[in-house]
Amino acid sequence: MLNVLLFYFSGTGMTRYYTSLIQEEMVKRGYSCDTLDLEEFTDLPTLWQKKPVALTYTIRAEEKRPLGKYPWPYLSVKSSIDDASGNPLFSTLAKDWSKYDLIGFGSPVYSFRPAPVMIRFLLDLPLFNKKIRTFSYATHDGAQGDYEAFMRNILTLKGFKYAGHLDQPFIYSASAVVRRSFDYLKAGEMLIKKSFEARRNIFIFLEYIHSLFYGIPYWYRASNPLAKLIGIPYRLIYSHGVDLILNNFLFGFGIHKEECILCMTCVQQCPQGLIELDDEGYPIRHYHCMYCLRCLNWCPTDALYFSSLTDRKARFPGPDVLLDTVLQDGLDRRIKSGRD
Ligand SMILES: Cc1cc2nc3c(=O)[nH]c(=O)nc-3n(C[C@H](O)[C@H](O)[C@H](O)COP(=O)(O)O)c2cc1C
Ligand code: SF4
Ligand code: SF4
Repeated sequence: MLNVLLFYFSGTGMTRYYTSLIQEEMVKRGYSCDTLDLEEFTDLPTLWQKKPVALTYTIRAEEKRPLGKYPWPYLSVKSSIDDASGNPLFSTLAKDWSKYDLIGFGSPVYSFRPAPVMIRFLLDLPLFNKKIRTFSYATHDGAQGDYEAFMRNILTLKGFKYAGHLDQPFIYSASAVVRRSFDYLKAGEMLIKKSFEARRNIFIFLEYIHSLFYGIPYWYRASNPLAKLIGIPYRLIYSHGVDLILNNFLFGFGIHKEECILCMTCVQQCPQGLIELDDEGYPIRHYHCMYCLRCLNWCPTDALYFSSLTDRKARFPGPDVLLDTVLQDGLDRRIKSGRD
């Protein structure tokens, strides 16, 4: 029996949901499978503020630097990898996790990379012995860019035996920020459809994993090469348009004070602990936002916005709400048709 750990970060719940699907398939195979949420495992603000992996566009947004100087987001990550020395906070992990045969690390794709907090955490890991196999997994909106290469490099650097990558686009949760409406039922139905696809892909991936441990390994490729090819022009456009679009139109942090009920949900939801209060007690965002969208999505009165362009747009309610909506709709239909 394999002993597996799934370690993940999730901004709006999709990666958490995906983790549960992977766990289900693992358990069906008779593997033991623990899951661990990065946010429950460690205090993110401390992790982040101690040694931030600079999201260069975030810093640019704060300082309004010209694009020409920084042609590619996350430029500083490469140098961070070079001097990744491990964090004393996590030094016992090499021993604590030696009971696992396989560890999966999952995160949403943010700007063609793993979420910055996951990057920070991986860089902070101690060195592992080569016996533990690892794989990466991701949820995204269709363009993973360098995510897999990034995970492979960093996990290999930390001493793991990298086995492969698993990913799934579900619904366009990030695009909720720029859309006017977000149809819960439609999105929920899409989530269910994509879940079937996800389960099938996980099953195939686990066949491959199983063969690594118990049989003759066979060649496996999770990422779609066509999607990778399409990703190249998308990435180029993204990198050059990044200042213009992100900084001028999408991101920032604003609040309609008259609508804020001072519930502090945003403050509690921010995984980075970035939201502080101004002199009047209203929330304001601090440095190093990773745009996980939680403060916006979870604000009960829609008082927050990233920019005037994204003000009053749809909000992503999280996979649980979407699945409940579909369930409720099914129930309503049954009642209407007199089947209940
Ligand atoms: C700041 C930010 C950047 C993103 N960048 C990408 C991207 O480059 N490519 C992509 O396909 N999806 C991107 N997405 C979409 C997320 O990867 C997707 O919504 C993911 O499923 C969210 O997972 P979570 O709910 O676990 O946070 C981005 C989302 C955010 C919030
Ligand atoms: S300020 Fe909002 S978007 Fe930024 S990290 Fe915190 S919760 Fe996420
Ligand atoms: S979640 Fe919304 S209403 Fe609550 S404190 Fe934050 S901005 Fe105000």
